[in-house]
Amino acid sequence: MNKRHGATRMSNAIALRQTARPSDKRLHPWSVRIMHWINAVAMLVMITSGWGIYNDDVIIRGLLFSKSLRLGDWAAWSLNWHFAGMWLLASNGLCYLVYGVAKGRFRERLLPIRLRDVIRTVDDTLHFKIDHSDLTTYNAVQKILYIIVILAGIAQVVTGLAIWKPIQFSGLTSLLGGFQSARIIHFAGMAVIVGFLLVHVILALLVPQTLRAMLTGGPRLIPPGQRAQEPLP
Ligand code: HEM
Repeated sequence: MNKRHGATRMSNAIALRQTARPSDKRLHPWSVRIMHWINAVAMLVMITSGWGIYNDDVIIRGLLFSKSLRLGDWAAWSLNWHFAGMWLLASNGLCYLVYGVAKGRFRERLLPIRLRDVIRTVDDTLHFKIDHSDLTTYNAVQKILYIIVILAGIAQVVTGLAIWKPIQFSGLTSLLGGFQSARIIHFAGMAVIVGFLLVHVILALLVPQTLRAMLTGGPRLIPPGQRAQEPLP
């Protein structure tokens, strides 16, 4: 590389670095944080009150939830909690879905998912090589888990409607295989969400900077157009 070319490249790099300033946009804008924490409270209410209702007519023989895990002293009281939580979960969830689609957050943060990235993430995890230095991108497995839990949340509302109003939503209930089948799918959805939550909360505690980011907003983002140019010398 001749001297003039080198100097031009250097000044371009300096100019780029000067323009590659973080925007005002944070990793988790305040609206996402509020919706996330409302969702966490609503989900806990739904799960623990659901366990109270379940105990009245068990699906898996021998599986009962102890009093300390249930919200509501008896089934009717748990049902009241479940209905109250349902409005919170459904309205907040709808806001999150509309926001995620309209603002392009789902496309930006949860897509694309490439098979080679999934294989690499699983391989790295099995070798205890988990990189937490960049909070601004989710790894392929995280993306899949978030998509699964979002779909499971939607499925819970739909199956919940089918067992709450089986006459009014008779078409939906029969599409799900009848009342008892809808109930079993609703229970399975709960199990998926509880499984996700166990992993999710453990990871949040193991990597506390992600938890801090979900509370305070996290780092300011560099606009996408500038991100690729950053590593220039
Ligand atoms: C008290 C329990 C919870 C804690 C401590 C927690 C913590 C967190 C943290 C730290 C993140 C950011 C992860 C990262 O940046 O790497 C996150 C994101 C997320 N959490 Fe939770 N969470 C909880 C409950 C839930 C529940 C109940 C759900 C759904 C059932 C949920 C679904 C999600 C989703 C979908 C994201 C990605 C959000 C986005 O980027 O738009 N979380 N959570």
